[in-house]
Amino acid sequence: MVTLILGAQWGDEGKGKIVDLLAQKSDFVVRFHGGNNAGHTIVNKYGKFPLHLIPSGIFNPKCICVIAPGVVVDLEVLKNEIEMLVKIFPDLQKKLVISPRAHVIMPYHKLLDGINEKAKGKGKTGTTGRGIGPVHADKVSYLGIRLSDFLRPQELKTKLEINLKLKNPLLKTFGADQLNAEPVLRNQMELFTSIKPYLAETFTLLQTALLRKKHILFEGAQGMFLDNEWGTYPYVTASHVVSGAVTTGGGIAPTKIKEIMAVAKAYTTRVGDGPFPTELTNNIGEKIRKIGSEFGATTGRPRRCGWLDLELLRFTAQINGVSSWALTKMDVLDGFKTLKVCTSYKLRSKKINYVDCDAITLAQIKPVYKSLPGWSQKISGVKKWADLPKAAKNYIAFIEKETGVPVKLISVGPERNQTIRK
Ligand code: GDP
Ligand code: IMO
Ligand code: MG
Repeated sequence: MVTLILGAQWGDEGKGKIVDLLAQKSDFVVRFHGGNNAGHTIVNKYGKFPLHLIPSGIFNPKCICVIAPGVVVDLEVLKNEIEMLVKIFPDLQKKLVISPRAHVIMPYHKLLDGINEKAKGKGKTGTTGRGIGPVHADKVSYLGIRLSDFLRPQELKTKLEINLKLKNPLLKTFGADQLNAEPVLRNQMELFTSIKPYLAETFTLLQTALLRKKHILFEGAQGMFLDNEWGTYPYVTASHVVSGAVTTGGGIAPTKIKEIMAVAKAYTTRVGDGPFPTELTNNIGEKIRKIGSEFGATTGRPRRCGWLDLELLRFTAQINGVSSWALTKMDVLDGFKTLKVCTSYKLRSKKINYVDCDAITLAQIKPVYKSLPGWSQKISGVKKWADLPKAAKNYIAFIEKETGVPVKLISVGPERNQTIRK
């Protein structure tokens, strides 16, 4: 059984919580794209953990977590996460496997991320500043440095020197400190010693798991509309977020995936710049941000908040082949008298679909709303579908009808047991 979990909107939908929950029945949980721009929060008896690189299945004792080739890793962030988790699981080496193919975010990638953003000024993407764009640019330009390179320090040094020859003039031009190969190499090699024991070919591991009919769960990062190809370019991330990325980044054939569950927030949020048709820049948006604690798990930035957008969810369902929704943060909508839901877009009074809009058009369209009644009860303690208020059930039924995809899980709080199966 292979399941894929994806973010349905602009990230931070609650993928971490859902993966942690479903991983109870998984043998493997695999991150296959993105890097430490992700922040996947898990709340459990040990505390609250915003995991950036290590898969969200790690708290399940029997689960083996895999960082597959498509992930880009910052050695310092990875080392810190490993050190934090070793305190809880002294035998972490039995639970974590990292692909030697994964590309490494080098110090110059982070500097260049900042320089790119500064150069774009008002039109900036609003990145997390983690070097994600630049590390992918090097990857597709055949300049990248991979974890496996650290096993051959002499060749690594040559690669680093070539990169610095190319990057230092840029750093100088934009007023950043130029980098010397020696200290960069020393520092990165030292960090690598903490990571080396976890390296192994993940392809063989997963193929063997498939043969043995193990349960594998792929954990997507970011969200559909941050996809480099199909998102709101250039206000996107550098990786592919769509379901197909599981093959390139995870090393598994598309035909092996049995279920594709997309995690959608019961409303919409976005952190960073770019168009957001249902954004609420008024006190309703503020209220959602406050109740939903909508602040980035990675950067702490306030998330922009707005109504649920079904035009977006329909596109997510189509392009990814979504088989079910996990609807999260339903409890945040408690107490709203009326809930608005966007059902379609209009541009100068003519209907227009998401796919026909570029980022500029998307900023101009007007959402068409349907108003649905809210509910006054608190639902964070509800455990069964039957006990949800009628208006909450109607809200969910409306999403199912408009998207043609069933809602399987309803999340009413950050903890594992605050989840209703429908
Ligand atoms: P991810 O990046 O998709 O894993 O999501 P984040 O962890 O960045 O953001 C989701 C936030 O909402 C985290 O703080 C979660 O603990 C929290 N959360 C997840 N599900 C729910 C829910 O159903 N209700 C509430 N109130 N909080 C939730
Ligand atoms: P998770 O996995 C929300 C956004 C950034 C910015 C754009 C590009 O926690 O859902 P990048 O640093 O990737 O070059 O930034 O993408 N972004 C996210 N937004 N959740 C995330 O991850 C994100 N990862 C990147 O805010 O708009
Ligand atoms: Mg997040």
